[in-house]
Amino acid sequence: MAAFPTTRMRRMRANDWSRRLMRENTLTPNDLIWTLVVSDTANPTEPVASMPGVERLSVKAAADAARRARDLGIPAIAVFPHLDPSLKDENGREADNPDGLVAQAIKAMKDAAPEVGIICDVALDPFTDHGHDGLMEDGVILNDASVERLCSQALMQAASGCDVVAPSDMMDGRIGAIRGALDSEGFQDTLIMSYAAKYASAFYGPYRDAIGSAKALQGDKKTYQMDPANSDEAIREVALDIDEGADMVMVKPGLPYLDIVARLKATFEMPTYAFQVSGEYAMIQAASQNGWIDGERAMMESLLAFKRAGADGILSYFAPKAAELLND
Ligand code: PBG
Repeated sequence: MAAFPTTRMRRMRANDWSRRLMRENTLTPNDLIWTLVVSDTANPTEPVASMPGVERLSVKAAADAARRARDLGIPAIAVFPHLDPSLKDENGREADNPDGLVAQAIKAMKDAAPEVGIICDVALDPFTDHGHDGLMEDGVILNDASVERLCSQALMQAASGCDVVAPSDMMDGRIGAIRGALDSEGFQDTLIMSYAAKYASAFYGPYRDAIGSAKALQGDKKTYQMDPANSDEAIREVALDIDEGADMVMVKPGLPYLDIVARLKATFEMPTYAFQVSGEYAMIQAASQNGWIDGERAMMESLLAFKRAGADGILSYFAPKAAELLND
């Protein structure tokens, strides 16, 4: 007689009700952070060619988006600025302008929907004519001088009403310096989400297009962003950032780095986030537009994968679309 399996895993998969009963992870709008590009253009919205479905928004349109986030149950928005090239220079002087685009966007969004958390990127790349996240001298990215500029940028963001500053620059010591600067100016309640494990990745391509730094970028970011080959290094980076005062830590990019998400969550038990970056978004959208994959299913599957890996939340350009589906 043939030996039949004694354990039949398929029994629990046989019906929708039993599949639902044994589901280990769920995705809700509470898990989503909407990554949004705000622009100083005169148009209310402008498509980003390499990111089908994503638009650069005017300050007014960003305020509408904040209301939409609130209505969809999305807890927070992460803002990224697209500046007119004439405002960019070597030192990123516009980065801490208290009347600049970022300050205007924060105020308009907090005004429109105060219940929605606003997260701001701390880095100079949208503001420098060389496209780097820090100050550059003779082709070298300066660490400590950059950190001073970043502190000033973070202070401007906090003073404008931003809830969370999110340093994405990968300079050494910036979390501690920013925490100190915030505390000494009375912003002890402003949160810090550290892009703690940020890799030098090809998947940022469409983002640089979205914020208009693609053509500008001189060289690469390998002297400050991490080598995709490394995992122990991520542990050291995150340990330092937690020590320096980070409230939340992030891994970036997302899907190709789920092992890092899982390892960090298990090691530190900190609020841990993953950034499904522009290139990940673009791949799903491009394949979907070609009819090669079911875009909606791929979107939901990829977002759920972050939860399974241990992420407490996901920064994603899909956030409004996914929240809409989840609310249906
Ligand atoms: C830069 C920054 C980048 C992203 C967020 N902040 C790009 C980079 O490091 O070059 C990427 C976001 C995305 O690809 O969606 N400070």
